[in-house]
Amino acid sequence: MRVKENIALEFDEFSKNYTQDMIACVPHYLALNQSFIKGLPKDFTPHHILDLGCGNGNVTALLLQYFPKAQYTLLDASPQMIELCQKQFKDYNIQYVTSYFKDFSFEEEAYDFVVAGFSIHHCESAEKQELFPKVYKALQKGGILSITDLMINKKHEDHPLLLKEWGTQVNHHFPDGEKWKWIM
Ligand SMILES: C[S@@+](CC[C@H](N)C(=O)[O-])C[C@H]1O[C@@H](n2cnc3c(N)ncnc32)[C@H](O)[C@@H]1O
Repeated sequence: MRVKENIALEFDEFSKNYTQDMIACVPHYLALNQSFIKGLPKDFTPHHILDLGCGNGNVTALLLQYFPKAQYTLLDASPQMIELCQKQFKDYNIQYVTSYFKDFSFEEEAYDFVVAGFSIHHCESAEKQELFPKVYKALQKGGILSITDLMINKKHEDHPLLLKEWGTQVNHHFPDGEKWKWIM
């Protein structure tokens, strides 16, 4: 499963059964995705949305229900993921970009909503430190960056228990242990 150092290949592979695998691998995946909508200020109506690491389009699919008229830019390093989005979204104002975050030219003040679902954790620290200032500049005044992820503070007293429960869930769905190894 692991194709180290090549996120695009890893996710080309993961794209085959993506949503079901995410539900099996990530506790609360669907509920966490809903937080992109639940956490928004009242009356916030974005016009240009950037989906960073869009995957097969689950976040955009949700946002389209609320903001069907917005312009969308979907960015992902995996060509297979971008292809899944292209097949899924027709009749919408969507631009597709197959690129790593570090190679993407972020246009200044171009977006009023930037979303990143479970994608930024794939970046090394240095890449994250480069990415956030670019996103900040790419946001219009009053714009919002929204991120979902599943992170466990290693120093928290519940860390061992949470990790055990998470591992039990993943190994229940993928008994050969490979998926859990990949996640870890
Ligand atoms: C776990 S998936 C999340 C997909 C979707 N956002 C969701 O919430 O279901 C992570 C996605 O981010 C993409 N990705 C990870 N690191 C990336 C990077 N540095 N540049 C571009 N895409 C990246 C992967 O190809 C993958 O499609």
